[in-house]
Amino acid sequence: MGQPEIETTEKLSEGPQTVRAILFPEVSSAGAVDLSVKIGALRLRNPILAASGTFGYGLEFAHLVDLNRLGGFVTKGLSREPIEGAPAPRLYPTPSGMLNAVGLQNVGVRAFVAEKLPVLRNFDTAVIANVFGYTLEDYVEVIRVLEDAEGLAGYELNISCPNVKKGGMQPPEKPPPSAPSGSSSPHLLQTLDLSPVPPRRLEPTP
Ligand SMILES: Cc1cc2nc3c(=O)[nH]c(=O)nc-3n(C[C@H](O)[C@H](O)[C@H](O)COP(=O)(O)O)c2cc1C
Repeated sequence: MGQPEIETTEKLSEGPQTVRAILFPEVSSAGAVDLSVKIGALRLRNPILAASGTFGYGLEFAHLVDLNRLGGFVTKGLSREPIEGAPAPRLYPTPSGMLNAVGLQNVGVRAFVAEKLPVLRNFDTAVIANVFGYTLEDYVEVIRVLEDAEGLAGYELNISCPNVKKGGMQPPEKPPPSAPSGSSSPHLLQTLDLSPVPPRRLEPTP
């Protein structure tokens, strides 16, 4: 492979796409393949969706990952008021994985809308807001604030908080509303982040 190697070395500065096209011309480039997926009303460019809490508010990772190439990401859980979170240590490695107790640290929904969302709007990726609270009213209030903001593709309602003191899970007596009444954004995706602990059955709201 004398010739291609020289050519590849010269083209290295043109980026990985060019080099890959030389080395594997028979393989279609990622841009040429439709990887899009539909979840409810939302279409994602591809099925890569970073999970809530593992990806901050997205911006912390912008120097490592091109956010525009993700299908989308789910924000760290957002509450009515900022939460400082658990004291260190928050992470502990175990032989079969790791334990974490972040304690729901977050900037609060208003700071998210004022400080993070305007920057996130510069990226072409689906931003899904993860929402949590201790009462039904908390969920409604957080979503009300988000409803007034621009740039979200959907909500994920966190109804499992295994690391808070109130007993392993945090489902309100009734499931949180899918959106506050009068919602201006019925097209937004709504998903649930459930606990791995089997919940007691939640009766649907009439
Ligand atoms: C460090 C850490 C923080 C997380 N924070 C949140 C959170 O704020 N809100 C939430 O709904 N889920 C949170 N999760 C749960 C993840 O979003 C995800 O549901 C969980 O990692 C299970 O994903 P898996 O089934 O692919 O392993 C967190 C997970 C980790 C590891």
